[in-house]
Amino acid sequence: MTLTETRGFRAYKVVGRRDEAQDVVTFTLSAPDNGARAGHHLIVVAPLDPGLRREYSISAITADELEITVKREGIVSSWLHETIHPGNVLTASAPRGSFLLEDRDMPLVLLSCGIGITPMMAMAQEALGRGREVHFVHIARDRAHHAFRKQIDLYRDNGLVSHVTYKYGGDTAECDHVGEFTVDQLREILPGCAVEVKICGPSRFMQAMYDAAVELGVARNHIAWEAFGPSTLVPRTTPNERAVNQDTSGTAHSADTPETPLVTFAESQVTARWDPTSHSLLDFAEEQGVFPNYACRQGSCESCMTRVTDGEFEYVDEPFEAPGEGFVLLCCSRPVTDIELAI
Ligand SMILES: Cc1cc2nc3c(=O)[nH]c(=O)nc-3n(C[C@H](O)[C@H](O)[C@H](O)COP(=O)(O)OP(=O)(O)OC[C@H]3O[C@@H](n4cnc5c(N)ncnc54)[C@H](O)[C@@H]3O)c2cc1C
Ligand code: FES
Repeated sequence: MTLTETRGFRAYKVVGRRDEAQDVVTFTLSAPDNGARAGHHLIVVAPLDPGLRREYSISAITADELEITVKREGIVSSWLHETIHPGNVLTASAPRGSFLLEDRDMPLVLLSCGIGITPMMAMAQEALGRGREVHFVHIARDRAHHAFRKQIDLYRDNGLVSHVTYKYGGDTAECDHVGEFTVDQLREILPGCAVEVKICGPSRFMQAMYDAAVELGVARNHIAWEAFGPSTLVPRTTPNERAVNQDTSGTAHSADTPETPLVTFAESQVTARWDPTSHSLLDFAEEQGVFPNYACRQGSCESCMTRVTDGEFEYVDEPFEAPGEGFVLLCCSRPVTDIELAI
């Protein structure tokens, strides 16, 4: 049996390829009946030795085709750039992921930096198609690295409000702003705080935009982000929220709530009560100063697989492949009972 048949992967015929910006290429894949939604990604398999898997967000969706847009960085992205052309077949998963648009009747604000633009392109396409008001803030190094310029112009014709910053120089005739993108600029651009916000880019950018959106009054459950691998953000509470979370005796709720399971990281000799505001055991471990391996934080790569020596857990996001008995993917699971992890 082939990999395609046994592990939920499919063979996609590559039907197009174009340069999108410096070091960035879009691949068009034939994908009838794809069921993809904006924000989904594919897990692409590179048949190297050893075989490697990487996630790529879907940048455009039609009934018969999907596009992924890849920045040349390391092994797999370079393999795609150098090897994959129309006529080739690419092995990849079905569209998957949880970074999806909500069905909300409010303006959508897309905040991206660098290659973090890819899921935003599909989201802009889907939201404009549904008649939503869309504000798209993007930060690129400069004009040469600004992907999707022409497509964004087309979306502008359909009502998209776009704001482009070139961080490392350019002409203000080519963009809206040159230099750092600041919280004050976000404040000016946000059409009020009753908005849905999506963020994708490097950690520092995502953290700054998340903190700024919260500070400007956007509800936390209206803000979502996607990390491309090691970058991530910590949804820190504001002083106001901390004050609200204190009861009259001054006891903070959350990590000390007695009913939550005890989580023990055996090798690290750390035990703490599960904090229900943590998304996953991986986030919780990091909050406790324990730093497991990880790469995708999406249940795809198995980098965070850890042995469970006692207790039970559940998956909050469905992993691409659940590991065998006695192991857990920390990035997409939570404890159900007191639990001991080998790490
Ligand atoms: C949900 C999700 C969606 C994603 N969507 C996209 C997308 O739409 N487009 C996109 O381009 N990427 C996307 N990514 C990132 C992508 O999955 C890969 O992580 C990325 O392409 C790098 O993989 P690689 O094999 O090319 O690099 P790797 O070989 O894994 O290297 C990763 C980084 O480490 C550096 N590196 C590697 N080896 C060394 C070394 N020896 N010393 C120093 N530095 C080194 C490389 O330069 C590179 O920057 C996404 C990731 C996730 C989790
Ligand atoms: S970090 Fe990739 S599966 Fe958990």
